[in-house]
Amino acid sequence: MSKPLTGKVALVTGGSRGLGAATVRLLAEQGADVAFTYVSSEKQAQAVVDEVHGKGAKAVAFRSDQADTSRAPALIDDVVAHFGGLDVLVNNAAISVAGTVDDPDADTAALDRMHATNYLGVIAVIRAASRVLREGGRIITVSSGLGSRVGAPGLADYAATKSGIERYTMGVARDLGPRNITANVVEAGLMEGGMQPPDPETLKALVGSLSLRRMGHPDEIAAAIAFLASPAASYVTGAVLDAHGGYNA
Ligand SMILES: NC(=O)c1ccc[n+]([C@@H]2O[C@H](COP(=O)([O-])OP(=O)(O)OC[C@H]3O[C@@H](n4cnc5c(N)ncnc54)[C@H](OP(=O)(O)O)[C@@H]3O)[C@@H](O)[C@H]2O)c1
Repeated sequence: MSKPLTGKVALVTGGSRGLGAATVRLLAEQGADVAFTYVSSEKQAQAVVDEVHGKGAKAVAFRSDQADTSRAPALIDDVVAHFGGLDVLVNNAAISVAGTVDDPDADTAALDRMHATNYLGVIAVIRAASRVLREGGRIITVSSGLGSRVGAPGLADYAATKSGIERYTMGVARDLGPRNITANVVEAGLMEGGMQPPDPETLKALVGSLSLRRMGHPDEIAAAIAFLASPAASYVTGAVLDAHGGYNA
C-alpha cells in the first residue's frame, strides 16, 4: 500500500471501536502517526494501539470524554506533546439515543448527553485543534445520512446533532480555507458492528431505503475518510461525501 500520509499526525475521536478503529488502522497503514480517544473501552483501545504497533506504525490512545467540552484543549495539548503537531482531525466519536419527541418516558438526560457528545463536544475539539493544525491540514467530520434526511421516526435528536455538525464544518471550511486547511463531511451509513437503531423494524426500514440494500462495512467508510485526508483531496473543501449506500439517491 502507498503511504500518502507519511509525516502526518492524525487525531481520530472515538477510535476504540467501529468506524473509528477502522479509520485509525487505515490512516496508520497509510503512514500517519495516529492519536485517538475513547471514553470507557480501555481494553479495546489498547488492542487497537497494539495492532497498529504490530504493523510497525505509531498510535496512542487518550481517555477523553467528549461530552465534557472543557477537556478539548488538554486533549489537543496531549496529542501535540506526544507526536509534535497535528495535521488531520477526524471527528468520529458519537453516541446514538433514539425516541420519539412525544415519548412521556424519554430519557432526557441521555438525550442531553448525546447533544453534548455529538454536537458541543465536536465543536470544542474543532476549536482547540484549529489553533494548532498545520498548513495543509484536514478536518473530517463523520456525520450520517440522517444529517440530511430523517428517514424514520424516533431519530429527531440524533439527526439534529449530525445536521448541526455538518453545518458547523461548512463554516469551518470558510474560516480555515485561507490557512490551506480543508474541512469536509463524510455521511456514513448503517454499519455492520457499529451503533444501531434500537428496534429491528427501524433498521429494516432504513436498510430497505438504501440503493445498495445492505449495510456498509466500517472499512468502506474509513476509505472515504482516508481519501479526504490524503493529498489527492487538496482542492476539496466544504463538501459532503456520501458513504451510505445511496440513502439519498
Ligand atoms: N454505526 C452506524 O450504523 C452509523 C451510521 C451512520 C453514522 N454513524 C456515525 O459513525 C461514527 C462512528 O459510529 P460507530 O458505529 O463506529 O460507533 P461505535 O461503534 O458506537 O463507537 C463509538 C466510538 O466513540 C467513542 N465515544 C463514544 N462516546 C464518547 C465520548 N463521550 N467521548 C469520547 N469517545 C466517545 C467510543 O468510545 P468507547 O469505546 O470508549 O465507548 C467509540 O470509540 C459516529 O459519528 C456515528 O454517528 C454510524
